[in-house]
Amino acid sequence: MTDPRDPRGLRSDAPLLDAWLRFTAQAEAGELTPMSVPGHKQRRDLTGAVTAGDAPLYGGLDTIKHADELLTEAEARAARLWGADWCRFSVAGSTHGNQALALAAGEPGQPIVVTRALHRSLLLGIVLAGLDPMWVLPEVDPATGLPGPVPVGAVRDALARCPDACAVFLGDPSYVGTTGDLAGHASAAHEAGVPLLVDAAWAAHLGFHPGLPPHALAAGADAMVTSAHKALPAYTQGALVLARTGLLDRARLHRAFEATHTTSPAGAIMASIDAARALLARDGEELCGRLLHTVAAARARLRQVPGLDLLDGPGVEPAKLVVMLAGTGAHGNEVEADLIAAGMPVEMADRDTIIPIVTLADDEAAVARFTDTLAAIVEAHRGPPRRPVPAASWTVIPDVAMPPRQAFFCRNETRSAAEAVGRISGELVAPYPPGVPVLAPGEVITAAALDALRAARADGGRIAYAADPTLATFQVIARA
Ligand SMILES: Cc1ncc(COP(=O)(O)O)c(C=O)c1O
Repeated sequence: MTDPRDPRGLRSDAPLLDAWLRFTAQAEAGELTPMSVPGHKQRRDLTGAVTAGDAPLYGGLDTIKHADELLTEAEARAARLWGADWCRFSVAGSTHGNQALALAAGEPGQPIVVTRALHRSLLLGIVLAGLDPMWVLPEVDPATGLPGPVPVGAVRDALARCPDACAVFLGDPSYVGTTGDLAGHASAAHEAGVPLLVDAAWAAHLGFHPGLPPHALAAGADAMVTSAHKALPAYTQGALVLARTGLLDRARLHRAFEATHTTSPAGAIMASIDAARALLARDGEELCGRLLHTVAAARARLRQVPGLDLLDGPGVEPAKLVVMLAGTGAHGNEVEADLIAAGMPVEMADRDTIIPIVTLADDEAAVARFTDTLAAIVEAHRGPPRRPVPAASWTVIPDVAMPPRQAFFCRNETRSAAEAVGRISGELVAPYPPGVPVLAPGEVITAAALDALRAARADGGRIAYAADPTLATFQVIARA
């Protein structure tokens, strides 16, 4: 008989899921008197339903003394599925995964070749690790204003300039789903004797259907970070770090991962990563096939809207839906507001672009309802067509004055926007999404960057991490 708490019968291949199902069943049946954390003690009469299903990994899914055995087994299964020989489950997102890999990559002061279109989590990983970034830039397509991949030639040049680099760290697919030549990057890195590390936060489903690109490890990377909670049916925060050791050291990876991971991982998050892995292993091809079909249908529907364009073709992740609005004259933030009002929030919207996330959990009818709604909303906001303007996140040309870690710990002073131009930024400021720093610690603040940030804010975008979110003042490195 089917267990409604495990409708696809995944528990026999998912040790953490099995343990979570057992523990929570016992808790629900009132058979537990835990004299351990969490402090809610499985009661629902204090803070209510919000803690339902919460079970610690240590002292919940397994005993505090032995919980690593179950976890090790679950992680080994994930490693096998992705062709890795080292895997860890994180309850702190790809944010933690990126930082763990940065901490595993090199020594303080060592250069690392890294994309400047990086997520802020990786930049802060570089701060934590004290690495010295040798930036490589993605190509930006002037027709769409969107970033493509970092060219392999740019990585080769950077490695040639930096013979003591410790690694190459790229983001692939990009936030907008563009993919690069990872095999070429892996060759370039390996010829230089360094590992290729890939932030694949959005790409946990890649490699599980012939119509999808291979995942980063299959393409030759030495390690990848991916958010199970983004592309797979896993709990928010669930992520995996996967590596093929050799150029990366297993014990160092372990130390780096543990350094910034909580000592109290949530069992529900860990079990959901395990369950999503078991689902991919068994039904991944069927589910990804359906996803590809659904996204292709959505693209075809949206193409019928005059002026609306979709990012598509070689070098674009086929399950990513990137809607380009410039030709319709509609403003992305206004379209987004109407979509939210219709109960259909999207992952990202700026003036020219809308990115709805479609995953293997979506069914075709729901996505068709979404595309019909989007088409109607675009009609309601139609205006004169315009040329897309690349967002500031994709066009940063860093003018580096000092390494990010040094800048992060320098004494700051607060300066007005006008006074800040030409000074060295002490802070990281990023329009979010996509979370790519436009200002980074240690880089010279340009008038163009401030203008772009102000424009993004005036347009209704969220400018994250700035000490002064109004952008009237900035934190700059104090003059001695
Ligand atoms: C490219 C990229 N890397 C890393 C992250 C961080 O992922 P998480 O939210 O799982 O910590 C994000 C988040 O959106 C991202 O877009």
